[in-house]
Amino acid sequence: MAKEGALDELLTEVLSRYDNSPSPHLKEVTCAAIRHLHAFAREVNLTREEWFAGIMFLTQCGKISDDVRQEFILLSDTTGVSTLVEMLAYDASSSSLTDNTVLGPFHAGGSPDREFGESMLVDPDDGDRVVVRGVINDVDGNPIEGVLLDCWQNASNMFYAVQQPGIQSADNLRGIYHSQADGTYEIRSIRPVPYPIPSDGPAGDLLKKNGRNWWRPGHLHIWARHPDYKDLITHVFDVESEFLDGDAVFGVQRSLIREFKPDDGGELSTTFDIVLDRA
Ligand code: BEZ
Ligand code: FE
Repeated sequence: MAKEGALDELLTEVLSRYDNSPSPHLKEVTCAAIRHLHAFAREVNLTREEWFAGIMFLTQCGKISDDVRQEFILLSDTTGVSTLVEMLAYDASSSSLTDNTVLGPFHAGGSPDREFGESMLVDPDDGDRVVVRGVINDVDGNPIEGVLLDCWQNASNMFYAVQQPGIQSADNLRGIYHSQADGTYEIRSIRPVPYPIPSDGPAGDLLKKNGRNWWRPGHLHIWARHPDYKDLITHVFDVESEFLDGDAVFGVQRSLIREFKPDDGGELSTTFDIVLDRA
């Protein structure tokens, strides 16, 4: 193997080529990435064959990606990097703020507005009917009116409407709810079921070759938006769902897990109160 000193010299030389970068931040990010790539190659004593396999892997990620399939996001999700970036961007740990989690690839703009309590189920579905209710407050406990709750969920066949154009109605299990003057909201849907993330590409291959699963626990996605508050992208997880301890994309936060129980009206329901941070 090459001498450590020569490897250090190479890295120093590469980094020095960025000395005159006109952008200090771009320089910082580029040089950090280079330092870590060099450290990675040195740590595993990367062979030519392995490096070429890595290049082919990334090439395949590019080839399978298009407007609706984004393999690099899947790679970022399954390596925990998406969750890491979320954790760096939004810290709810030392406050009453609702925890955030990954956006995922199945959100689509233009969901229909839904009335308070309306069901977002459009197509026939055998799933258990559920209600998710809550109050949206600021950190001082004041209710927030007019929060948009952009919701999306998979059907009992495990697919999201965006994955099955022509099979599911475009608006199935999608909808935008609005909080009322007292901060309350009410969503009717079906009980979310676990589903496999797309595993027919290089990111899925890597999971399988490493003996990892490619499933997510059942969840409802909520993206809360209001002009005076920071966006919150989160999930409601079902406590009875499989894979809560092995989410393929590391999106589970204990604080987001809920129990669905029959309410006074006999509906299977859960409460998910939300606390938003001022913008
Ligand atoms: C999702 O929850 O929709 C999702 C998140 C990350 C990767 C795949 C799917
Ligand atoms: Fe999802």
